[in-house]
Amino acid sequence: MIMRIDIITCVPDLLTSPFSHSILKRAEDKGLAEVVVHNLREYGAGKHNTIDDYAFGGGAGMVLMIEPIDKCISKLKSQREYDDVIYLSPDGELLKQTISNELSLKKNLILLCGHYKGVDERVREHIVTREISIGDYVLSGGELAAAVLADSIIRLIPGVLNDETSALTDSFQDDLVSPPVYTRPADFNGLKVPEVLTSGHEAKIQEWRFDQAVQRTKERRPDLLRKDDE
Ligand code: ADE
Repeated sequence: MIMRIDIITCVPDLLTSPFSHSILKRAEDKGLAEVVVHNLREYGAGKHNTIDDYAFGGGAGMVLMIEPIDKCISKLKSQREYDDVIYLSPDGELLKQTISNELSLKKNLILLCGHYKGVDERVREHIVTREISIGDYVLSGGELAAAVLADSIIRLIPGVLNDETSALTDSFQDDLVSPPVYTRPADFNGLKVPEVLTSGHEAKIQEWRFDQAVQRTKERRPDLLRKDDE
């Protein structure tokens, strides 16, 4: 099954690079995921392809209009069924690994990127099925957030990562952050790698990594452990 992610944006150039490299490109080359970027302006009205207008009631900033968004999404929906139409917005549900895990099981997703002052509220009420924020800060548009969300989803699709990069050992998958990692040289000007890692003792190495992950989580992200106390 190939997963398809359609991203709707008025700044498509912002989204070309993230999907042309490394793991995301490999996912597309292997036929496991397809990312299609749509330029909202192509669905704009009139000879200027207008996609935004002033806010009713006044105030600074432009608002993306419902018509072009509806036109674009209706066309996509006439071609296939979508599991979700996700609007990226700082007031959406905060993105967590559990959400990415869940979305990685879907077949077709639409990601809608806001810009300026956002989109007409009727889009959010009647077209969008889910709203996601990638963090408590405001970006200039939803594009970088859509790239972050798509990346976190696509890398989880079975076959995208190889054993070495397996998502099963990621931070957060088991509510623990990752243990420290080292590579050659084992001694850099007296800075030594923990001995256990060069011992060849697989069980001891696994135990050390787990202990380090727990310790790090306690120090850096105690909120991840607190869930267990509830
Ligand atoms: N658009 C602007 N800021 C955003 C954020 N933090 N998350 C998702 N979309 C956004």
